Amino acid sequence: MERKYWQDTVIYQIYLRSFNDSNGDGIGDLQGVIEKLDYLQSLGAETLWLSPHYDSPMDDNGYDIRNHWKVSPDYGTIDDFKELLDKAHKRGMYVITDLVLNHTSDEHPWFEAAKDPNHPDHEKYHDYYIWHKGKIDEHGNKTIPTRWRSWFGGSVWTYNEPTDEYYLHIFSKKMPDLNWRNTSMQEDLKAMIKWWVDLGVDGFRIDAANHLEKNWDFPDGHPGYENFSSLPKHHEYLEMLGKEIFTPNNLMTIGESGGASKEEALQYAGFDSNEFDMLIQFEHCWVDTDDSNELTPGKWAKGEVDVPAIKHSFSKWNEILRGEGWNVIYWHNHDQPRIVSHYGDDSLQYWERSAKMLAYALYMLPGTPIVYYGEEIGMTNVDYENLDDFKDVEVFTEYRNFMELGASHETAMQALRDRSRDNARSPMQWDGSSYAGFSTVEPWIKVNKNHETLNVKNQMNDETSILNTYKTLLALREKEALAHGDLTFHDLDDDSNFVYETTGKHHDFLIVANFKKGEATFDKTLLEGYTLFMSNQDSVEASSNTLEAYEARIYRKTK
Ligand code: GLC
Ligand code: CA
Repeated sequence: MERKYWQDTVIYQIYLRSFNDSNGDGIGDLQGVIEKLDYLQSLGAETLWLSPHYDSPMDDNGYDIRNHWKVSPDYGTIDDFKELLDKAHKRGMYVITDLVLNHTSDEHPWFEAAKDPNHPDHEKYHDYYIWHKGKIDEHGNKTIPTRWRSWFGGSVWTYNEPTDEYYLHIFSKKMPDLNWRNTSMQEDLKAMIKWWVDLGVDGFRIDAANHLEKNWDFPDGHPGYENFSSLPKHHEYLEMLGKEIFTPNNLMTIGESGGASKEEALQYAGFDSNEFDMLIQFEHCWVDTDDSNELTPGKWAKGEVDVPAIKHSFSKWNEILRGEGWNVIYWHNHDQPRIVSHYGDDSLQYWERSAKMLAYALYMLPGTPIVYYGEEIGMTNVDYENLDDFKDVEVFTEYRNFMELGASHETAMQALRDRSRDNARSPMQWDGSSYAGFSTVEPWIKVNKNHETLNVKNQMNDETSILNTYKTLLALREKEALAHGDLTFHDLDDDSNFVYETTGKHHDFLIVANFKKGEATFDKTLLEGYTLFMSNQDSVEASSNTLEAYEARIYRKTK
């Protein structure tokens, strides 16, 4: 397999709304990204993944697209977009955008026509979406066709009076699902994708990719996820896009799809596959849930971090793709809590140490890394106090669910503070000023109070900061071609330690880390031949196989 440019890149995910506001309206924007290109490049980021930049009513911060051919005025203009592409390309950087193919906004002209029988284009566009007549319940009342549950809580069906039908939306009701069996819809989307490719976009992160096909028999079920997730036919759609657009244009593509088996992973992202280059799956993302919690269940129930589950998952995905496909490595994105609060410890005492530990544990692994904005300075979950501090559409449906399950306001709030997606969407903390250097006015979502000390400016000049640890690790990845390393995990079942060896160009490396607050130990014989290279502690006994709370070390030996 010849090496591809995207195997050695470092991806940095920018949540556009929250990264940098250039024009003082409290919303991050494209010019804001341009202003920070120096910063991004000095960090070692080469590929920028932008969250949706399209025109949108922002029910789901842009994942609800109203106009695929237009940049959201919140973020700038098409000229700003071209300027970003141009400036990034001149620096040898790549820009990939989010591609949302599963749904549109309900304010998209296609849906406007689809829902309105009197619209001149109704006939054509009705079938771009998924409709179903209601059922009649035992009292003779009209009711939803099935009890399928949306990913954001609540029913997947919303009634549309003018056609006397329900439309399907597996996310919010403002995000109707597209009908991928409609070939005219497919052609329209393909034309749109080609248009962005012609403009110079280097690739895509394909949103919600495994949901494109639905079970058109519409059997009842609750939550019924199997009826709109990973149905075999969605691969046909992705393969078509790959063959016609992604592969011929040498694009960098990353597909979002949870829960894939080995066969499916290779179908998506095997070297012979035309669907994607890389797959984002979520196996390691919620391995700290408490299944006994009935008031705020599922991902909302915070429990102990299952360290073996993380190791097994990383090891398994490395094995699955070894020689046959390509792995991405990442801790989190805009849909999960901040990693240092999630799998580390954001208390004053351990925040810095555990953030570095998490960096050591991840960024020495083979594969293409994705750094999520703010992760490189150890940004934490946010100290939201009131329900209306939250902005995410998902929060409000889930809050109602928790209340119905009997949770108190405070219990519900704590679940939201621990787990909501808004934790990962607060403004980037550039400096200690009132709005964290993100904006000159009150931002669209609250700034974390800890920005006064936790910010880029403070960490820039501190050689041992989390930020400089990231720079060091990302530079080391490049120098040693760690993306291509040969990985061996040790002690997969140990509850606290995280130990692996990997091979670089000039050295072999041994990484030892402790994910817990108590001491951890590891097999001392592993140290043979290795010398200490980096550590997240001031002083360390290099020959000791005992690790203090959240301690991490990197050893190496010359080849
Ligand atoms: C993906 C995105 C998420 C969004 C959803 C619907 O999971 O990552 O943020 O809400 O798709 O587009
Ligand atoms: Ca702005």
